[in-house]
Amino acid sequence: MLLVTGGAGYIGTHVVRALGGAGHDVVVVDDLSDGHPELLPDGIPVEVGTVLDTDFMMDVLDMYRVDCVVHLAGRKAVDESITRPSFYYRQNVLGMQSVLAAMVRLDVRRIVFSSSAAVYGAVADDTAAEDAPTAPRSPYGRTKLICEWLLRDIAAVEGISWSALRYFNVAGAGGRDLADHGVHNLVPRVFQAIDLGEEPTVFGDTYDTPDGTCIRDYIHVSDLAAAHATVVDAVAAVPMSAIYNVGCGRGASVLDVMRAAREASGVPFQWRIAEPRPGDPARVVADTHLIRDELGWTAVHDLGDIVGSAWEAWSAARGGTGAELSVGAR
Ligand SMILES: NC(=O)c1ccc[n+]([C@@H]2O[C@H](COP(=O)([O-])OP(=O)(O)OC[C@H]3O[C@@H](n4cnc5c(N)ncnc54)[C@H](O)[C@@H]3O)[C@@H](O)[C@H]2O)c1
Repeated sequence: MLLVTGGAGYIGTHVVRALGGAGHDVVVVDDLSDGHPELLPDGIPVEVGTVLDTDFMMDVLDMYRVDCVVHLAGRKAVDESITRPSFYYRQNVLGMQSVLAAMVRLDVRRIVFSSSAAVYGAVADDTAAEDAPTAPRSPYGRTKLICEWLLRDIAAVEGISWSALRYFNVAGAGGRDLADHGVHNLVPRVFQAIDLGEEPTVFGDTYDTPDGTCIRDYIHVSDLAAAHATVVDAVAAVPMSAIYNVGCGRGASVLDVMRAAREASGVPFQWRIAEPRPGDPARVVADTHLIRDELGWTAVHDLGDIVGSAWEAWSAARGGTGAELSVGAR
């Protein structure tokens, strides 16, 4: 049995579906601070509680005879982490420590952890490989890096097989019912502006990039979910201590995303250029050779698929088809 913490969240609901599709039995732990358990497939047990509660986690591991944990629960908003660092360190770092403590006590020896490209900070080369220097620029990124260190050190003495997946910019939807409602991510922010008839904001157009806007590596959430199914099998097959980038290995600029959103929505919106946000690196793109060469996983969806699927799910969530805005909202 697999335990997915944070399984009712945006990525979690996709991961649970992918793991179920690969034949795994899954139980979810989620405190529902941000989750939508109604989006989980029928029959998936959801234990409501916080990963910070080690006794609760031990009860769940014991009750369901869990043999592997996929630990996604955590807080993810970079901006909020700057204003609420204590909350972020508690939720993310102490959350990880609690999960590992419960696992050790119940003799659960496999874990896959949601890390982030935020651990890199600025990327000096064209792409970041897993051994690139880490210099996170936010408390959020630092919590993820500390979690990786905690995991590495505790796993080494406890004989835990583990992998930390550094997700790049996750977007898209694996179904019309699985929209990302997070106001912190670019794609839903653009859609929100379209719905309101406003101009989405582009933060900075004077970066040292071909069109002057920031370049990121957008990964379809369904590709990311499929990577989890691959990695769960890998940590079970052999003792593992591995960090993998999970991106598509190609960069897209903010303007590329704007154009893809115009295309997907059919709305010919304009965007507004604002001051760059402090701490936003110009370019963060994954080197994805390691996970491809070692585990055979590679992303299959491109930016058009990502933004198109996200728009369909966004439209469905607000009760439309997606077509009605294209014929005259602006
Ligand atoms: N979305 C991205 O682009 C992205 C990028 C890199 C890493 N990540 C990481 O992936 C993970 C999942 O992200 P998401 O986008 O699905 O976020 P999300 O907010 O949609 O999901 C997180 C889930 O965890 C639950 N949760 C939060 N704190 C909890 C706690 N203490 N105990 C139990 N449940 C708790 C929430 O209720 C929610 O269902 C996070 O750890 C995030 O940092 C996300």
